[in-house]
Amino acid sequence: MRGQESSSQRILIADDQPDIVEALRLLLKSEGYKTEAVTSPAAVLKAIEDRDYDVLLMDLNYTRDTTSGQEGLDLLSRIQSLDGSLPVVVMTAWGSVEVAVEAIRRGARDFVQKPWENARLLTILKTQIELGRALRKGQRLEAENRLLRDERLPRLIAQSPAMQPVLEIISRVGPSEANVLITGENGTGKGVVAQTLHAVSDRATKPLVTVNLGGLSEGVFESELFGHVKGAFTDAKIDRVGRFEMAEGGTLFLDEIANLPPKHQPKLLRVLETGEFERVGSSKTHRANVRIISATNADIQDEVNSSRFRQDLLFRLNTVEVHLPPLRDRREDIQLLANHFLRQHAQRYRKNISGFDTAATKLLLTHGWPGNVRELDHAIERAVLMSQGELLQARDLGLQAGRDASRRLEDMSLEEVESFLIQKTLAQCDGNVSRAAEKLGLSRSALYRRLQRFGL
Ligand SMILES: Nc1ncnc2c1ncn2[C@@H]1O[C@H](COP(=O)(O)OP(=O)(O)OP(=O)(O)O)[C@@H](O)[C@H]1O
Ligand SMILES: [Mg+2]
Repeated sequence: MRGQESSSQRILIADDQPDIVEALRLLLKSEGYKTEAVTSPAAVLKAIEDRDYDVLLMDLNYTRDTTSGQEGLDLLSRIQSLDGSLPVVVMTAWGSVEVAVEAIRRGARDFVQKPWENARLLTILKTQIELGRALRKGQRLEAENRLLRDERLPRLIAQSPAMQPVLEIISRVGPSEANVLITGENGTGKGVVAQTLHAVSDRATKPLVTVNLGGLSEGVFESELFGHVKGAFTDAKIDRVGRFEMAEGGTLFLDEIANLPPKHQPKLLRVLETGEFERVGSSKTHRANVRIISATNADIQDEVNSSRFRQDLLFRLNTVEVHLPPLRDRREDIQLLANHFLRQHAQRYRKNISGFDTAATKLLLTHGWPGNVRELDHAIERAVLMSQGELLQARDLGLQAGRDASRRLEDMSLEEVESFLIQKTLAQCDGNVSRAAEKLGLSRSALYRRLQRFGL
């Protein structure tokens, strides 16, 4: 693996002349490098397929012909297609500058002429190793980010007739630049729809930045959205980038938009109308390139009618409106959603549960789900934690009309509560008993005793 021996850097030397290889080995070893040497283009390819090097120092001429450098140039192209991030420094004969230039064109990072000057060669190698490491690190991070993003790709379950208009709008306007307002009761999936809209847009490789306007206090609103410069107010010790700038090129998701105080609405309206804004305390105007998706569970037209929300701002936000029906109006999706959450939680809590028994299934399909998909999600998480068998039972779901989750805890026996909390904490700590014990305020052995008692 790359980076395991960060202290000793590994250089691959490729030259068919033994005396040159020997001289290079000695020089590089004395500088603390590890070296390996190969004598043919084929051996170079094999070596870089087998392991990672920090830099390849290679001659351009091998046995086939010894002056044109053609063999080396062909090799360079092959190396580029194998591993474009491997820094290659080529060695050329004195006076063959054209070949050196051609080598650079084919992806070599630098060149030295033979006979080389030790100090110059060492400087070149050191620089290329550093640059190469930085480049590879950057590429790795980028790949990791992409993976993370893919993992977070939202899963939107929507087979019911009531959800078809939603899917239609997503596929029609998702890829466009239109601002979208998502409405629907709590827990209907507004967040997932926002993620999906972003994921299917041309902006998908750029950030999706969320601001929960319900959670912003009056004082921080402006600086949170637009950033500030050092000294703009007492606590502004350094410059700060706002969400609009963070979302540059991507999507800004304004959640709970109806909670935006009237005082701040003009400022948001301006950036939506003109694309312009300033950081707090600065007069420099920035131009925003963001798409706005917003969501609310309030009846926003009602807010407009009672003058709590500006009509002109709503007009900018709801170019397209998506309304999510409550779960009770899309019962066809309940089973699918339930299975999805069951798989998720069973895996997370490492429980071997394959499905629901008949009574549980019936209960899922008839319950009113005032808390919509989120309530279903939570009910199944709880059931997974409570369940002793391979099938979830109706009583595991803990669904009693009018009762919320916190009160249901009171209906459990002390043992049930203990077992519930222990499992939840263990999962939060990724199964690490020491950390779970610490979180629960128990000694490790006390936690082990309980794990045994509850058969966990
Ligand atoms: N159609 C769906 N398919 C799969 N998962 C869903 C779906 N709808 C909602 N969820 C899941 O249900 C949970 C609640 O959804 P989400 O947070 O998007 O709801 P919301 O409408 O934004 O709620 P709130 O109004 O409380 O903010 C999330 O865990 C989400 O992943
Ligand atoms: Mg939400």
